[in-house]
Amino acid sequence: MTAPLRIGLAGLGTVGTGVVRILQTHAGLVAARAGRPVEIVAVSARSRRRDRGVDLSAYGWEDDPVALAKRPDVDLVVEVMGGEDGPARATAQAALAGGKHFVTANKAMMARHGIALAGQAEAKSVALRFEAAVAGGIPVVKALTEGLAGNAIARVIGVLNGTCNYILTRMQAEDAPYAQVLEAAQRLGYAEADPSFDVGGIDAAQKLALLATIAFGAPVELESMTVEGIERVSLADIEHAAELGYRIKLLGVAETAGAAIEARMQPCLVPAGSPIGQLEGVTNMVILEGDFVGRIVLSGPGAGEGPTASAIVGDVIDIARGLVLPPFGQPAAGLVAAPRATAAAPAAYYLRFLLADAPGVLARVAAALGEADISINRMRQVEHDGPEAPVLIVTHHTERQPLDAALAVIAGLDVCREAPVAIRIEAL
Ligand code: NDP
Ligand code: HSE
Repeated sequence: MTAPLRIGLAGLGTVGTGVVRILQTHAGLVAARAGRPVEIVAVSARSRRRDRGVDLSAYGWEDDPVALAKRPDVDLVVEVMGGEDGPARATAQAALAGGKHFVTANKAMMARHGIALAGQAEAKSVALRFEAAVAGGIPVVKALTEGLAGNAIARVIGVLNGTCNYILTRMQAEDAPYAQVLEAAQRLGYAEADPSFDVGGIDAAQKLALLATIAFGAPVELESMTVEGIERVSLADIEHAAELGYRIKLLGVAETAGAAIEARMQPCLVPAGSPIGQLEGVTNMVILEGDFVGRIVLSGPGAGEGPTASAIVGDVIDIARGLVLPPFGQPAAGLVAAPRATAAAPAAYYLRFLLADAPGVLARVAAALGEADISINRMRQVEHDGPEAPVLIVTHHTERQPLDAALAVIAGLDVCREAPVAIRIEAL
């Protein structure tokens, strides 16, 4: 019998207890697929006494996750504590320095320090895997690093935050208030410890940065991306977008523009009938465009205990089988920085204004857009009771910079009653 793969598990929250459950429920199946038993030998969390709903009695305990990573009876460390630096990073560094394999769900750490950690893993010929860090249960890192490795990738598109998609779809379906739905997402274990990372677009941007780094073979830093969250998406915009045939999604796009890379994560309107427009609840979707394969669409649960633990255990089984690949699909030293594209690709935009309902007002708005060379595709004044009229405009394709200039002019008009709203429309 081949020796078991011995795991140290750091973190016993939503994802960590999920890993315990899968390895306990499927011990036989995992051993059969891995070709050897896979056993948890020790665990770590902050509170030893908390009842976590799983039986931990057979495992050793370490208060300090770094001590866990250094245990001589641990071959592989699973880190599901979270946090960009602090104990998570120290645990990763200790594990890799000690020649142990390392599996993590931590996109914050991987987006910031992933390439350095990959270099450390490669130097020790051990595996560093992070499938669970991107799109929950969807095996997209594996798809990019293995199945699609023969393609040049031109574009990665994704709905990559389950919490945001859950909030946006429940707001649309039930007119439910934002704060109430966010609370439900937290209760269900979808949200980050600090949910502002979800609704602020940061969590999804970290995931897109990881995918883009693999896809383009170039480090993509968060600072080089346009990142906007869903906090300012109003129920009114969700409803107006639906009337116009669209859905609002927190959408990530990373694409090559010549030698440069453009990456953005922001709320966008997408056609209601498109696969992304139809995504409900916590579901994520990733679209990958390869030069030989064409378009690949992957979809599935993007957060929560079961899907995330499923991705972790998939990585663990690959390691138990002896698979050690460069974490980013090619040696870390070969990842060469690319310039940032100077501007986002032109797009149509959805605009919403609240304007005084008086003669000549629409003409002044249209003139400001016209002076910026922005052409109107559709325009509608929404039914209203009072002296102020909501006005919706869909533009033809335009660059963002002249649009912002025109919106600044319109915001300064005495007839403009609140800051204009502009949301990009992705044709997909
Ligand atoms: P939780 O907050 O539910 O769990 C975190 C766990 O880490 C807790 O058990 C906590 O201990 C433990 N922990 C925190 N700090 C320390 C420390 N210093 N030493 C030892 N243990 C510590 O988080 P999740 O399970 O939701 O998320 C974990 C990771 O997985 C994060 O990186 C997250 O981004 C990622 N992830 C989460 C997904 C999800 O759907 N929840 C999906 C994909 C990725 P204690 O319980 O005692 O407080
Ligand atoms: N908070 C994240 C989300 C967890 O909602 O998508 C999965 O990475």
